[in-house]
Amino acid sequence: PIDKKVDSLLTLMTLEEKVGQMNQYNGFWEVTGPAPTEGNAAKKYEHLRQGLVGSMLNVRGVKNVYEVQKIAVEETRLGIPLIIGFDVIHGYKTISPIPLAESASWDLEAIKKSSSVAADESAAAGINWTFAPMVDISRDARWGRVMEGAGEDAFLGSKIAQARVQGFQGDKLSANTTIAACAKHFAAYGFPEAGRDYNTVDIGTSTLYNQVFPPFKAAADSDVKTFMNAFNILNGIPATGNAFLQRDILKGKWGFEGFVISDWGSLKEMISHGFAKDLKQVAEIAVKAGSDMDMESYAYVNELVKLVKDGVVNEALVDDAVKRILKVKFELGLFDDPYRYCSYEREQTIGKPEHHEAVLDMAKKSIVLLKNENKQLPLKKEGLKIALIGSLANDKDSPIGSWRAAAEPNSAVSVLEGLKKHSANTIIYSEGVKVLTSNPGFTGKANISYDKSGFADAIATAKKADVVVMVLGEHGFQSGEGRSRANINLPGVQQELLEAVYEINKNIVLILNNGRPLAIPWAAQHIPSIVEAWHLGSQSGNAIAQVVFGDYNPSGKLTMSFPRSVGQVPIMYNRYNTGRPANAEDNVFWSHYSDEENSPQFVFGHGLSYSEFSYEDLNVTVNADSTLSVSVKVTNTSSIDGKEVVQLYIHDKVASVVRPIKELKGFELVAFEAGETKTIRFTLTEQELGFFNNLGQWRFEPGDFKIFIGGSSNTVLETEVTIK
Ligand code: IFM
Repeated sequence: PIDKKVDSLLTLMTLEEKVGQMNQYNGFWEVTGPAPTEGNAAKKYEHLRQGLVGSMLNVRGVKNVYEVQKIAVEETRLGIPLIIGFDVIHGYKTISPIPLAESASWDLEAIKKSSSVAADESAAAGINWTFAPMVDISRDARWGRVMEGAGEDAFLGSKIAQARVQGFQGDKLSANTTIAACAKHFAAYGFPEAGRDYNTVDIGTSTLYNQVFPPFKAAADSDVKTFMNAFNILNGIPATGNAFLQRDILKGKWGFEGFVISDWGSLKEMISHGFAKDLKQVAEIAVKAGSDMDMESYAYVNELVKLVKDGVVNEALVDDAVKRILKVKFELGLFDDPYRYCSYEREQTIGKPEHHEAVLDMAKKSIVLLKNENKQLPLKKEGLKIALIGSLANDKDSPIGSWRAAAEPNSAVSVLEGLKKHSANTIIYSEGVKVLTSNPGFTGKANISYDKSGFADAIATAKKADVVVMVLGEHGFQSGEGRSRANINLPGVQQELLEAVYEINKNIVLILNNGRPLAIPWAAQHIPSIVEAWHLGSQSGNAIAQVVFGDYNPSGKLTMSFPRSVGQVPIMYNRYNTGRPANAEDNVFWSHYSDEENSPQFVFGHGLSYSEFSYEDLNVTVNADSTLSVSVKVTNTSSIDGKEVVQLYIHDKVASVVRPIKELKGFELVAFEAGETKTIRFTLTEQELGFFNNLGQWRFEPGDFKIFIGGSSNTVLETEVTIK
C-alpha cells in the first residue's frame, strides 16, 4: 500500500516539486527568531515555502523541528513533510562510547541497545533520521574517523552494522521512538591514501568485495532505509558520481529500495576532483549515478529541472529518486502525522536515568584491558594512596568524544569523579601536563598544545603514592572527521611525563583515552597495567573506576590492531602471507622492516580479563553437506566469574584468489563462572568458507582449510580439514 500511496502522490507533483524532494538544506536560520529576509538564507527560506526542500539537517529540538515542519506542511502546495536528519553517532544527549569503543565489546545486544537509546532520545528531540551507522572498514589508525567505525574486520563489522541498524530502526519504523538509519560512506571512505581524510582511494577488487562491501551489504539486508555516499574517489571515479557503486551494486545486485543521500557538498566536490566542469554537469552525473538527495551542494535544486526539460536527464530517474524518498517518509509515519516526533512532553524524557544506566553498561563493556602484569589490577578499594595524574583525568568534556550530537559540554563523569565515588582510597590529583589551547570544538583545529609546568607537582605527587593512575591520550576532538594524524603516539609532552613519573614510581596504571589505536611501544614495554578506555561517553569515569577497582571484570577485545609504530600502518591481522613470509635463514630478502618488527603491539581480538581462560579439545567435523561443525572446550581457570570472546578464524590454504592468513568467521561472547568449563560450538557454511573473486562473483572452493580458535587473533588451537 505504501508504494501505491507514493505513486499517487507522485502524479500530483510538478517537476520542480519532485526535484525539491531531492534537496536537503542545513538549518539556516534561528527558527525562533524572525524569518531571514536577505542573502542565501532568505533564498533557502523561500525554497522551503515553495516545496523545494525535502529534508533538513542540523535542526533539532521539538520547537525548532516543529517550526520548519510547519512551513513544509502548511505553506507548501502539497504539504509534504520534511525528513529531519542529524548525526546521532553515539548518543544524542546521553552519550555512549564512540563506536570504535562499542565494537570492542563484541556484544551485539549491548550495541543494539545503545543505538536504540540514541534513537529514543533523538526521536524525542524531533529527529527522524540519523546519519549512522558508519560501517567503513579501516586499517589505518592515522585516519581520524576510525573512531566512528567498528574496526578493521568485515565479518565483525557486518554483525555490528546489522545490530546498529536494528537498534536505530527497531521493529517498527513508524513508532515515534525509532528513526531511519543510514549506512555510510558508500564506499571505501575508510581506505584513504596515507590515512588522510577525504584523500584518494585506490583499492583492488578483492579488497572492495571482501572487505569494504560486506558491512554495507549487511546493512542493506537489515533493511537500512538510507545510504550515504562518500567524499572520496574510488579508483578514479568519485563515489557520489559512481554508477557502478550506486546503481549496479547497491540498487541493482543488492536490491536496495531506500534512498541515497550525498555527503555534505560531495556533489559539487566532483568539480575539484576533476570529474565535472560545473554544477550542471555535477547534477547530471550524480542523478544518473543514483545519488537521490543532495546535501548542501545546491546542484539539484538549481540545475536538475532544466536538465530534465532539456532532455539531458530522463525524468524517470528523478521519479525513481523521489519515490524512494517519499517511501521512507511514509514508512516513518510522517504522512500520518508530520509532528509525531514533536512532543514537548517526550522531549523532557531525554537524559532519563535508564539511558544513563544503558550507556554506563555499554561503557564498561567497551573497556579493553591491554596489559596487567603481576595482577596489579584490580586495585584495592581502600587503604591506598593513589596519585591520579594527567589533564584528561579531570576532563569532563573529552570523554564525550567527537560527533557528540546534542551533548552538553563538560557533561561526562571524569575519571577523578569516578575514582572518588567508587573507592575509599585517598586520591591526590595532579594535572601533570597543562593543556594550553582551549577546547577546539567540532569545527576547531585539533592542534592542542601542552606545557610541562605541571611536571614537578605530578612527580612529587607520584612519589608519595602507593599507586599512580595516569590518564593520557587524545582529547575527544583529536579524532573524528578532519582529524587525521601523521603521528599516532601520545600527543604532546605526555610521553615525557609518563617516563618522568615512571622514574619515581613504577606502580603505574595507564588509562588511555583515545579515538584510534595509538603507537605506545615504550608504555607497552614498561608500564605494568594498561587500560584502553577510549572516549566512553557520559558515564566514562564511573565505567573506568568500576574496572579499576574490580566491580566490573573487563571483557573487551580490540577490533583494530595497535601498531608498534606508525610506519607499520596500514596494519591488520587478516593480511596475506606474501611469497617471503618468514626469516628462516636470517636472510635479508624476506618481507620485513629492518628497524621494526612485523607484528603489531596489540593484536586484533586482544583483551585481558581478571579471569583466565584455557582452551582445549578443538574438534572439527566435515559434514556431508560440506559444512563444518566446530567445537572447543573453554574453561575459566580462575576464581573470578568473567566473560570471554571465543574467536574462530579460518585460512583457506589454496584458492584461485589467495586468501588472508586468518579470517574471523565466528565469535561468541560467553559468560563463565569461576572454574566453569563450557563447550562452544560453531557451524561454518559456504557463507563463511567462500569469498568473492576479482569479478565480484561468490566462490566456494573445497580443499584444505585451517581452523583456529582462541581469545584473540593470536589463536591458541588450530587444526586442518579437507572439504571434498
Ligand atoms: O554525516 C556527515 C558525514 O559523515 C560527514 N560529512 C557531514 C555529514 C553530515 O553532517
